Amino acid sequence: MKILIVGSGGREHAIAWKIVQSPKVDKIYCAPGNAGIAEYAECVNIGAMEFDRLVDFAREKEIDLTVIGMDDPLVGGVVDAFEAAGLRVFGPRKNAAILEGSKAFSKDLMKKYHIPTAAYETFDDPQKALAYLETAKMPIVLKADGLALGKGVLICNTLEEAREGVKTIMEEKKFGAAGSRMVVEEFMTGREVSVLSYVDGKTIKPMTSAQDHKRAGDGDTGLNTGGMGTFSPSPFYTEKVDEFCRKYIFQPTVDAMAAEGRPFKGIIFFGLMLTEDGPKVLEYNARFGDPEAQVVLPRMKNDIVDVFEACIDGTLDQIDLQFEDNACVCVVLASDGYPVSYKKGFPIKGLETVKEHDGYYCFHAGSAFKDGQIVTGGGRVLGISALGSDLVEARANAYKAVEWVDFENKYYRHDIGKAIDEA
Ligand code: AMP
Ligand code: GLY
Repeated sequence: MKILIVGSGGREHAIAWKIVQSPKVDKIYCAPGNAGIAEYAECVNIGAMEFDRLVDFAREKEIDLTVIGMDDPLVGGVVDAFEAAGLRVFGPRKNAAILEGSKAFSKDLMKKYHIPTAAYETFDDPQKALAYLETAKMPIVLKADGLALGKGVLICNTLEEAREGVKTIMEEKKFGAAGSRMVVEEFMTGREVSVLSYVDGKTIKPMTSAQDHKRAGDGDTGLNTGGMGTFSPSPFYTEKVDEFCRKYIFQPTVDAMAAEGRPFKGIIFFGLMLTEDGPKVLEYNARFGDPEAQVVLPRMKNDIVDVFEACIDGTLDQIDLQFEDNACVCVVLASDGYPVSYKKGFPIKGLETVKEHDGYYCFHAGSAFKDGQIVTGGGRVLGISALGSDLVEARANAYKAVEWVDFENKYYRHDIGKAIDEA
């Protein structure tokens, strides 16, 4: 088979690494890819939003299956474009990717189908939002409706902060058009867990759990980022929690989408909070998490191409999805200054050392080729993932491997997986 992957981050690197192990696969292309993905795939210079060029490329190269890694093209309808051209593609159509593309849509869906989530109100008019906030309980959460690179969420501790937040989202449009509409949500407390799942329109197969670390600094301080590190499984995601989520959150979400005439095929990523009143949905994403994929996929036993095809064909019920009984930790190496401003273009040293060790992976998030060398090319540069027989060992391994790789302005959090000690 010939496979095309669309995307360019650490998640797509992990997907490419997993796909390359399938005996069915002869050739992988990635658009646009990065310097790490180039090890397994021929990278082609087509942007993820250039649907016509992607479709033309897939036709010309006779691609058997295209896998979409990123949210923007999914929400924009890339799957519909491929299907219209008679091409096989893994991911939700536009009318289903709205589960991630609009927070107002997903909140209304959860309310209608009684899926546990925080109480909320939706506003199109900043004046009405401000009036509502005057009597609301603090802290409160403001969310831009549309996609905002995971940054369109503001947690406001005081009324003053909330007023500023409305200005930022709806008036200054700091998150772009995503802020024309805003969801105001009850503040919840509890542990966060990510559960990614394969979905074929009617059947859902949840993967092993993971936990992300979204803030830039140690001790969950600093700005929100795309994710600074992950571990899998989450020790807080117990069998009892899993049972509850399958019954009251996972299957009901898939059934709700089908009932709405928006059957979901692809990945549903459930961002959950384990509150005192039970698990509740923080958010849905319509794709693998980044860097969740970098800890979940190294533990997955199945041939991922079989699973992708079962999702497309509606035969996921026949797949026995299995994960290794081990653990994985990913520490993201970023450029100092991320997520605000940072320099790039520095040579990366030590990549070979990671390759020499089994159970250690270096997934490139932002890297490029310059003068025959691999250099830093983004805010998040690499994700170093390491396996271990348990979380404590995996974490120690990941932090050991972090020292093998070096570049100027290398920055990382030192407390990825600290929560393990509290389990
Ligand atoms: P989201 O993009 O919706 O997952 O939000 C980003 C982050 O904001 C989440 O991972 C949580 O840490 C936090 N967050 C979002 N919604 C809430 C909420 N209702 N209560 C408390 N924290 C929240
Ligand atoms: N790591 C969070 C996300 O991919 O949205």
